[in-house]
Amino acid sequence: MRDIKTVGIVGTGVIGAGWAARFLARGVDIIATDPSPGAEAAMRETIELAFPAMQKLSLAPFGERGTFSFTTSLEEVAMTADFIQENVPDNEALKCKVMGQIAEHAPADVILASSSSGLLPSVIQAACRHPERLLIGHPFNPVYLLPLVEVMGGDKTSEDAIAHATAFYDSMGMQPLRVRSEIEGYISDRLQEALWREALHMVAEGVATTGEIDDAVIYGPGLRWAIMGTCLTFHLAGGEQGMRHMLEHFGPALELPWTKLKAPELTEELIDRMVEGTQAQADGRSIRDLERLRNDCLVGIMQVLKQNQTSAGTTIARDEARRYTARGHARWQAGDAVAAPLKLYECTVAPEWVDYNGHMSESCFLQAFGDASDALFRYVGIDEDYRAAGHSLFTVETHLNYLAEARVGEPLTFTTQLLGLDAKRVHLFHSMHHGTTGDLLCTTEQMLLHVDTGAERTAPMTGPVFDALSAVWAAHAALPAPEQKGRVMDVPGQVS
Ligand SMILES: NC(=O)c1ccc[n+]([C@@H]2O[C@H](COP(=O)([O-])OP(=O)(O)OC[C@H]3O[C@@H](n4cnc5c(N)ncnc54)[C@H](O)[C@@H]3O)[C@@H](O)[C@H]2O)c1
Repeated sequence: MRDIKTVGIVGTGVIGAGWAARFLARGVDIIATDPSPGAEAAMRETIELAFPAMQKLSLAPFGERGTFSFTTSLEEVAMTADFIQENVPDNEALKCKVMGQIAEHAPADVILASSSSGLLPSVIQAACRHPERLLIGHPFNPVYLLPLVEVMGGDKTSEDAIAHATAFYDSMGMQPLRVRSEIEGYISDRLQEALWREALHMVAEGVATTGEIDDAVIYGPGLRWAIMGTCLTFHLAGGEQGMRHMLEHFGPALELPWTKLKAPELTEELIDRMVEGTQAQADGRSIRDLERLRNDCLVGIMQVLKQNQTSAGTTIARDEARRYTARGHARWQAGDAVAAPLKLYECTVAPEWVDYNGHMSESCFLQAFGDASDALFRYVGIDEDYRAAGHSLFTVETHLNYLAEARVGEPLTFTTQLLGLDAKRVHLFHSMHHGTTGDLLCTTEQMLLHVDTGAERTAPMTGPVFDALSAVWAAHAALPAPEQKGRVMDVPGQVS
């Protein structure tokens, strides 16, 4: 299978556009096709909505975006792309036809992945030339934020194609889940569908409204699912004895008619109840409004998961680490000359960083300085491995001096100067400049302590990290002290 520089996106609706955003952000070129009028404009709109959310999710800088092109020719996509992600509606006959056409023109070493939500790859590949490269790559909406992708092959799919697709999705910051047996609905939709069918039954029977059903999820089990899923959550439901007690306790309920599972008939009345119910819940908010709300909350949830090094948070941390490395984030090596001051970080004022005056909010200055500190940490070798080994730097004091405003979209550059160093303390100073005018916008002075996170106390630094910081200190010790160093606030004569 070939290296993947260009991905072909066939069908550019909700899922196709979501895939495109994820790939473009990671420098992969896209060639897309969709026969529907206005498809290209709608796709571009989704991509633009996706970027702020992706950037908010992670501090790690994205490299240069991939290039984007759109064509009306499916044949051109098939002949150009190194990997094809098909996202046409989930209709078996249509999938077989479109995949058959793609397979006709795509070189044999190009993987054909379908985003299908439940169809069998053995059926789709039956009509394809070189069926061994066809598989399912089933993502979740929004594809640019949610990491899960189920990878499943059919009778004829080769292990090589599965391995290549898995590695590619992993490199795109996803969490590939191999579905080992070929089953309809895969793992995730089989679970989702069970819940969905129960919801439809309850609405059809007039037992609950769509709003009540959603409340039953969002205030309770839904909050737990992101952390531990269903099985491990129920392990906790059994108290000290865990799952065994849980099954003894609730096992008999499995005999009771608590679920229906077979879907109810989709009558006009049921459709109306579902539509009217969800419209009432939306309460005048557009789909785009709700997408923004969903994205903001997903970002917050996943960031907490990352801090706790669990579930989807670990996928995001892995993706970030890879992006830092890919950007060739400067890392000091023994013998390297050190710039005085260091210039390790730059960024752009994000839309969500500005306040009602259109200026960057106070707290976001600190956030940007935090990112600049992260760049210094990486430079001296404080990375995921270092933290996993039980060491970190904790900030114990911060002074900020706000000098000028920054507006949305403006470029920012940072300089970093060490003001002092010993085995347990790093005294540092960052200056934030306007990237175009060079104006000084804000400074921060910080004291950080080196900590043994296991023992929860300060501990001396040793080894390569201390060597790197010592090299920085050697280069910075003779720099003039910044004007803002050690500044105190005072209204003269009022506080002694
Ligand atoms: N929406 C979800 O939450 C979700 C989640 C995971 C997987 N999926 C799967 O992703 C696929 C796409 O779903 P969606 O929600 O994006 O649907 P969608 O209706 O938003 O988009 C489908 C797109 O395919 C286009 N299309 C139709 N025929 C085509 C053809 N011959 N060639 C190229 N494009 C064609 C349509 O014009 C449309 O833009 C389906 O297989 C679906 O099961 C959907």
